[in-house]
Amino acid sequence: MKEPKLVVRPTPAFRATVAKTSAIASVRDALIVPIRPGATAVPKAFAAYDRSIDGSIARLLASGDVRGRPGELHSLHPSGDGGPKRVLVVGIGDTDAAHDAVRRAAGAVGRRCRELGLRTATVALPGDVERDGVETNAEAFVRGFFLGAYRAPVYRAGRAAPIAVPSLRVVPATAARATATRTGVALGVAIAEGAWRARELINRPANDVTPLELARTARAMCRQKGLTCRVRRAPELEKMGAGGLIAVGKGSVNPPCLIEMRYTPAKGAKGAPTWWIVGKGITFDTGGVNVKSAAGMRNMKYDMGGSAAVVGVMSAVATLGLPIRVVGLIAAAENMPSAAAYKPGDVITQLDGTTVEVVNTDAEGRIVLGDALAHASSKAPDVIVDVATLTGACSIALGSDAIALMSNDDDVSARLDRAGQTSGERVWRLPLWRSYRRLMKSDVADLKNSGGREAATITAAVFLERFVGERAWAHLDIAGTAWSDRDAGFASRGGVGVGVALLTVALRDAARG
Ligand code: BES
Ligand code: MN
Ligand code: ZN
Repeated sequence: MKEPKLVVRPTPAFRATVAKTSAIASVRDALIVPIRPGATAVPKAFAAYDRSIDGSIARLLASGDVRGRPGELHSLHPSGDGGPKRVLVVGIGDTDAAHDAVRRAAGAVGRRCRELGLRTATVALPGDVERDGVETNAEAFVRGFFLGAYRAPVYRAGRAAPIAVPSLRVVPATAARATATRTGVALGVAIAEGAWRARELINRPANDVTPLELARTARAMCRQKGLTCRVRRAPELEKMGAGGLIAVGKGSVNPPCLIEMRYTPAKGAKGAPTWWIVGKGITFDTGGVNVKSAAGMRNMKYDMGGSAAVVGVMSAVATLGLPIRVVGLIAAAENMPSAAAYKPGDVITQLDGTTVEVVNTDAEGRIVLGDALAHASSKAPDVIVDVATLTGACSIALGSDAIALMSNDDDVSARLDRAGQTSGERVWRLPLWRSYRRLMKSDVADLKNSGGREAATITAAVFLERFVGERAWAHLDIAGTAWSDRDAGFASRGGVGVGVALLTVALRDAARG
């Protein structure tokens, strides 16, 4: 029997343009005025306009009401015709290298503009940003603005109303900054769209987003963006020997699949490196026969957050047309307990012949990733990065403030660390010393799938490392960062879309050399 389908919202078009300072005179909907803490003067770009409204902005600043905290909003409704209907004065906090405060502040603006049902907003970016930070600053405002407008679907009578996303006009602080601003705006738009897609995939419930529905959504994105997409289903998985994906998936009526998305740069990309981005796509994690507690299972629809990030990154890379080869790979399955489910004590054979003793069916992510990593590594790419909601221990160790990074390669680690700093999706590296391997030794197979509580985030990576051979590889554990319990900054309750910005920036930088 089939359930009625929930209505899927289309991904909106994100429109952001770069305009001249003179554009401020023609704003009708909303003018956004960013303010630092302690600012007493009206920012230069708005000075002429403020004089035309009798110094209303200056008076607001003089009142002492504006603290400049990131996301703090004050509305003005100037009288007279011809100007903006409203001026939104927004605190943007102090300057910081990641432009994090600007991103959060822009989130508050985007959310308010969406709530007000605005068609467009115009912002003049702050002039006190250092020259080499102009691009990131523009990216920060644009990404924050669009993602701040995001809201998880609310299904009333099976329908979820689409979101009308306001468009954005960005005015650079000076004419000399127009080029860097344009680059940053384009990056912000691409990342916002990718993360929006990721959020939507995470937030759609697990009875909607099954492994095959995940594949359909990925394929639809690929069609829109001009990527190729290949989905391997159960019979093909059996033929190729993907014993991990099959074992985890066999407890569910919703069969597993392996989704491969490929981006090939148009031209001028001779000698460009190839990166494979691999995502954990457990569309729901009950724990299997080692069933989770009710509280531990509540939000486990987000156990495909890694795969959602892969879809988002592929979208962003295609939007930007980066001169680098990228393949996105998703291991998709539903982890269920049933008469057909895999069991503790089972010994399974993975894609590359490695045998695994299943000691806990709740350590399923590493098993499906084992096959995916073995497949990726057999194609001899330059770099493999996997992204996964892999261990509860990750959020115990780092909370929601950092992605855990483990790697066999210092250069890839350093690249991801730098991308984490510019994108605001920061990573923190944990050791992957050989000595940890003892914890994953099995008496009956090459590996066991759980080393217990000790160093659980690291031992999961020890398991994965076995499948990448000598390839340069990094593992990103996003278990602590993929989900937000509340609206905050540019995050909305539910899926965060974390990993899209980090990996898009890392790939952009890798394409530059
Ligand atoms: N999907 C979970 C990890 C997880 C937990 C993600 C909480 C986000 C929030 C993963 O499949 C899992 O169950 N891991 C176990 C591994 C253990 C059985 C070795 C864990 O972390 O407890
Ligand atoms: Mn699990
Ligand atoms: Zn899981």
